[in-house]
Amino acid sequence: MSALLSISGLVAGYGKKTVVNGVDLDVHAGEIVTVLGHNGAGKTTLLRTVFGLIKARAGTVRFDGRAITGRLPSDNIADGVALVPQGHGIFRTLSVLQNLELGGFAITDRRIMAERIDLVFGLFPILKERQAQIGGTLSGGQQQMLAIGMALMSAPRLLILDEPSIGLAPVLVERVMDSIREINRSYGTTILLVEQNLKHGLAVAGRAVVLNRGLKVFDGAPAELADQGKLLSLF
Ligand SMILES: Nc1ncnc2c1ncn2[C@@H]1O[C@H](COP(=O)(O)OP(=O)(O)OP(=O)(O)O)[C@@H](O)[C@H]1O
Ligand SMILES: [Mg+2]
Repeated sequence: MSALLSISGLVAGYGKKTVVNGVDLDVHAGEIVTVLGHNGAGKTTLLRTVFGLIKARAGTVRFDGRAITGRLPSDNIADGVALVPQGHGIFRTLSVLQNLELGGFAITDRRIMAERIDLVFGLFPILKERQAQIGGTLSGGQQQMLAIGMALMSAPRLLILDEPSIGLAPVLVERVMDSIREINRSYGTTILLVEQNLKHGLAVAGRAVVLNRGLKVFDGAPAELADQGKLLSLF
């Protein structure tokens, strides 16, 4: 089976520094893949390069069989790839509803806009209750739900999430992880997730990948990483 997302030999960096150093990674339709690694390992840079926010220095990114390397993020969104950036990425001065409408910026049919908003409200009822509230006044957990909701407005086939649990209280981490599972199960959305929290990252994953200094050093079953010895050798 060919991969929905296929990354090969990807190289990216900043100035003289190479941060992603030739990464190969396939993500198949319907999978949840978690990328783990130390601070500064290159996880965010990998996701941002895949999404077209950073220019690849070498290598290719293919989505659904077509090369998308260097394609604009807006074109990626239109084609079914969405990124929830590290640190929420909501419009803090706009209401919950306005944020969701912006997430659905490409939708021209009002009926579809309303359906997608309902879908997000179904997944995160608290956002429905607070639809008129200004984004910046929501709690951290609610802001993360809104950021995920904004990404869902484009009905992505591939949802990329960069550390959705960062800074959240444990009960909210569970809630966000449950919602990621539910998105995958209910809509068949393929998920590529970066997670610092090993326990939660591994619990949700069908497959785990470890990055270290811009290189992929592990790609396999999450259960293999539960083995402490194996983990220590990778981190
Ligand atoms: N805009 C930038 N300009 C220059 N260097 C950067 C920039 N963004 C990141 N870096 C550097 O690139 C390296 C990898 O950063 P990146 O953000 O991809 O790591 P990460 O694995 O996502 O880390 P974290 O777990 O802290 O989010 C780090 O050394 C970082 O300092
Ligand atoms: Mg990061």
